[in-house]
Amino acid sequence: METTANNIKLTIDLKVLQHTILHYKTIDSTNRFLLDAEDLRNGTVVLADDQTAGRGRFNRVWQSLPEKALLFSILLNKFYNLRTPAVYTFLAAVGVYRGLRKILPASINLSLKWPNDVLLNGKKVCGILVQGKIAGGCYEKLVIGIGLNVNQPPQFFVDKLERATSLAAETGVEWNRDEVLNHALTAIDHLLIVLQESGERPIIVMWQDACESIGQEIAIDDGKKVYRGIFDGLSEDGGLRLQTKSGPMQFYAGDVTVLKEQNNAVSD
Ligand code: BTN
Repeated sequence: METTANNIKLTIDLKVLQHTILHYKTIDSTNRFLLDAEDLRNGTVVLADDQTAGRGRFNRVWQSLPEKALLFSILLNKFYNLRTPAVYTFLAAVGVYRGLRKILPASINLSLKWPNDVLLNGKKVCGILVQGKIAGGCYEKLVIGIGLNVNQPPQFFVDKLERATSLAAETGVEWNRDEVLNHALTAIDHLLIVLQESGERPIIVMWQDACESIGQEIAIDDGKKVYRGIFDGLSEDGGLRLQTKSGPMQFYAGDVTVLKEQNNAVSD
């Protein structure tokens, strides 16, 4: 399954991310690989054509089709000024969003959904999973895992629990995965520099600017209860601020549904 990596040399301009990426045809999970690996350089990128145990949030399975998606993870290690994991989720989402905006026609709607999704025409095209390894009470490394649906056909998404899609399903054409990856990595690399130089605030602001559900009525399921209210943007530390009938609340985990969208779906 996990064969030897075939190195790919990127020719794009990168300052934090490594130019040589580790490419596997099949691996269990690119996140698991980087969490377990030792002595890899900061900014190492691992890319797979297929995963046998791809993981999503809440330990859900992340499925794809061989050679149809971009499945990759980025290592940030202890020699880097590591910040809270949440900001890297937002950073990666904004990076993918900006990378896609550069190549997609303006007619395609792109947006972000809290906390870790990129939406294409309202459907999930990309999910992000940031995981960390703790040693001595602090993070020894963080791994940013990104699953971006590129060329899966529309039928792949029928019967999936989440409303999901791919670039090809929305645009009707096949995309060059290397080109999409280069755009996403260029944008993420730039944002890592912004974070280093200016801190979390600009990342939070960029994320909010790209999120269309702020100001709308949403429901958030925190695993115990569903709360309804108006999505009031992000707190400084990336929490979701909700204005409910009984007052303001803040969430750090949960599944969000935009209620306007849900009503539309019912009346369609
Ligand atoms: C989610 O939306 O739940 C997050 C999905 C993250 C999937 C990616 S694919 C590459 C990396 N390796 C994994 O096992 N998961 C992430």
